[in-house]
Amino acid sequence: MKIITSVRKMQAWADQRRSEGRCIALVPTMGALHAGHDALVRTALSSADDVVVSIFVNPTQFGPQEDFNAYPRYLDEDVEILGKLSSRLTVFAPGVGEMYPADIEADRISVDVGDMSRYLCGKFRQGHFEGVATVVLKLFHACRPHVAVFGLKDAQQFVILSRLVRDMLLDVRMVGVPTVRAADGLAFSSRNACLSPGQRKAAVVVSQAVHGAEEAIKEGEQRSEALVEIMRSILRREDDARVQYADVVDADTLQPIKEILPGQHVLAAVAVYFGGTRLIDSVFTQAPADQGIEKHDEES
Ligand code: PAJ
Repeated sequence: MKIITSVRKMQAWADQRRSEGRCIALVPTMGALHAGHDALVRTALSSADDVVVSIFVNPTQFGPQEDFNAYPRYLDEDVEILGKLSSRLTVFAPGVGEMYPADIEADRISVDVGDMSRYLCGKFRQGHFEGVATVVLKLFHACRPHVAVFGLKDAQQFVILSRLVRDMLLDVRMVGVPTVRAADGLAFSSRNACLSPGQRKAAVVVSQAVHGAEEAIKEGEQRSEALVEIMRSILRREDDARVQYADVVDADTLQPIKEILPGQHVLAAVAVYFGGTRLIDSVFTQAPADQGIEKHDEES
């Protein structure tokens, strides 16, 4: 399997493939690959001729108090896993100097994601989504993909990056892959490796909380306050769980909702700490259509 570390070489490789009429899919990752990443790579393989998996722990999306240094890094293991998957895979693993040529302090131009970083994780991780959008734009320029595959687990990230593609007129098709979960429901995450065995067991409440909200929405609960309380009450079952937020927002704008409208697409999301480890989970769902309107339609 080919491993490319320079941006120029990556661009030359992509240009060559494009000139041969081959479709390129990109799967951006920060490595420490798990079953969630695996699902993204398989989706990419089925949607394109060549797949580039980028592995880059992006410093600009970590706040000063966050776990950039402690973030798990297993490049050799990751390359071995990918090598076994397909001969159509290429790894792009640039160093920080390649992605931020003037260094991260001196690189002045970055993507402003506007309002969309004010809600959910953005409220607590200042500059995080600017860092994500900036690095993803750079990865698009380096790898020149036709298709980009992301997980819906990082729901706010997916919504913001879809907006980036739309607003910046990027010629990239966004594909979202449903969250891959362990048998007990916990979403796979590179950060799960940081949980103690006790915390890992307790963390099951995170997925139970968002699924609890989803169920209530499907049953017709429209009040966001009640949905938040459902999520918080499930999270309270574990003493170790420290809730950062539990929220219900509009799925397209990410704006907070007071009362869900019939048929509205919403996102129920939580961020929860277990010790120093922060886990997020969410579900996209749609409120039932207005029963009255349906009846009226049937009668007419
Ligand atoms: P990372 O956390 O490594 O995730 C890479 C991709 O895998 C993201 O699109 C994420 O949503 C997806 N993913 C993670 N866990 C998943 C799961 N359990 N099921 C489905 N998909 C899952 O997200 C990032 O890296 C970075 O922010 C990045 C986009 C690479 C920019 O630096």
